Order: sequence, then C-alpha cells, then structure tokens
Amino acid sequence: MNQMTIAPLLDIQDLTVRFRGLVAVDHVSFQVEAGTVHGLIGPNGAGKTTCFNLISGLIPPTSGSAVLAGVALDGLPSWKRTRAGLSRTFQNIRMFQEMTVRENVMTGMQARLQASVPEILSRTGRFRPEEVAAKTRAEELLEFVGLTASADRRAGDLPYGDQRRLEIARALASEPKLLLLDEPAAGMNPAETQDLVGLLNRLKQGGLTLLLVEHDMHFVMSLCDRITVLNFGRKIAEGSPREIRENPAVIEAYLGAKTAERLKDGAA
Ligand SMILES: Nc1ncnc2c1ncn2[C@@H]1O[C@H](COP(=O)(O)OP(=O)(O)OP(=O)(O)O)[C@@H](O)[C@H]1O
Ligand SMILES: [Mg+2]
Repeated sequence: MNQMTIAPLLDIQDLTVRFRGLVAVDHVSFQVEAGTVHGLIGPNGAGKTTCFNLISGLIPPTSGSAVLAGVALDGLPSWKRTRAGLSRTFQNIRMFQEMTVRENVMTGMQARLQASVPEILSRTGRFRPEEVAAKTRAEELLEFVGLTASADRRAGDLPYGDQRRLEIARALASEPKLLLLDEPAAGMNPAETQDLVGLLNRLKQGGLTLLLVEHDMHFVMSLCDRITVLNFGRKIAEGSPREIRENPAVIEAYLGAKTAERLKDGAA
C-alpha cells in the first residue's frame, strides 16, 4: 500500500450558516477528490444551494472552513475564489440577457485577463492580444457545449436548455479546477439531459472535478463517483451511488421506496 495521502481538491469542514432562527447548513463536512464527480443531493430546502453559496463566497458562514487545492477560502471574495480555481452555475440561471452568447462566455474570462485598466481603456498593451485569445477561447467553449450556431444571438432569446449550456461555457471560461453545478438538468428534456451527461463526462475525462446538485436521480447515479446527502441542513449519508440508493435513511428522507427500487433496476 502506498502510504502517501493525497489531499482532496475541496475540503469542507464543519460548515455552518444560520439565518435568524434557521440553521440552513449545520456542521457539514465532506471532501471532493480531484478528478471525480461528487453529488450533493437531498430534498427541497435541505441546504444544497446554500452550501454552494458558502463555498463560492456569496454568503459568509457562521462557522466552518473550506480549502480548495490547498488555498483556504475563508474570508476571500468570490473573484479570489475564482482565481483559486472555483467556478459555478446557478439554479436560477444568471446571465446577461441583452449580451450575445459569445459576449456572455467572454465575461467568464475576466478573472484570467492580465491587462491593466488603462490598457483596457486605451485598447493597447496587453489588451489586444488578450482580446484575440479570449475570442478564440470563447469559440472553442461554444463549440464544446454545442452553441456555435447561436454565438451571435441575444442570450435571453435562447431556449432554456441552451441557456443552461451557455452557463456552463461561461463557468468554464475561467479555467476552473472545480466546477459547481446547481441543477444543470432542470428544465431540460430527456434528449438534452442525455447530451448533458455526455458533456459532463467529457469534462471529467479532461481532468475537471465536478460538484453536482441535481434532483434527477438517474442523472446523478449515472454520473457521480460519490454522493453526499443533506437533509434539514445536516449530512445524513455519504457513499457510492449504490450505497446511497440502498441507504434506509436516504430512502426515508428523500428517495422514497419506489424510486430506490427503480434506481436498482437502472431505470429511475
Ligand atoms: N438568504 C437566506 N435567508 C434566509 N433563509 C434562507 C436564505 N437562503 C436560503 N434560506 C433557507 O435555507 C434553507 C435551505 O435552502 P437552499 O436553497 O439551500 O435549499 P436547497 O437544498 O438548494 O433546495 P432546492 O432543492 O429546493 O433548491 C431553506 O429553508 C431556505 O428557505
Ligand atoms: Mg437549491
């Protein structure tokens, strides 16, 4: 046996946030290993999105810590977390509706650009080569998510499933190590969901680590290497997809007996 232990890419310890009387996330600890797809599941209101908001720095925790690739995230603003390798999508899609699809992807690159403000304003120095490189990278990302033909469309005019894929392209533009996806398949039809499985698997094969919140259990079980389950802000289970779908506490709190049976047959 190799005695060396490799640190997890994301290490969450005792994360807690209290909103007035409600403890929305209650002493939650879990680790996401590099190169894996990790699921975060649980009933509505369990605290999944709030966990993402804590990890990405949108809200401060009451207590607890998060370390990404050896960098303590505590107290860092969101943009510094992006620089440390974190990116996310939102349950309620957030994008610039009036901008084109391509421009939306380019907004995701800001954390990577080196040009100074005077260089950007005068369009000189490092600005020009960076703008050319950013456009090229945007084309690559749009091709990757299958939106090349829509590059010049107004983002707000895209069908819902396409907007979800645009959000992923924008999130990838900052070249993250870890991508948090909050219900990426919500509102997608079965064909789009199937395509999304392929897309996320390709990202995994490319070495990206994913932390995934999703209610579509077939989707979750087919993608995830490991799953953490929340209920009323607390972690109630963690394990492989098989362990999770057979866990009585998870069946009781979330899956229900019928869904657990169907997942066993591979047809949830
Ligand atoms: N900013 C806030 N202020 C007060 N309460 C909040 C805030 N954000 C979330 N909550 C509450 O915290 C709890 C957890 O919400 P959260 O959105 O994290 O759930 P979720 O697991 O993502 O659920 P869903 O599957 O429905 O998206 C809920 O009771 C919610 O109402
Ligand atoms: Mg949510």
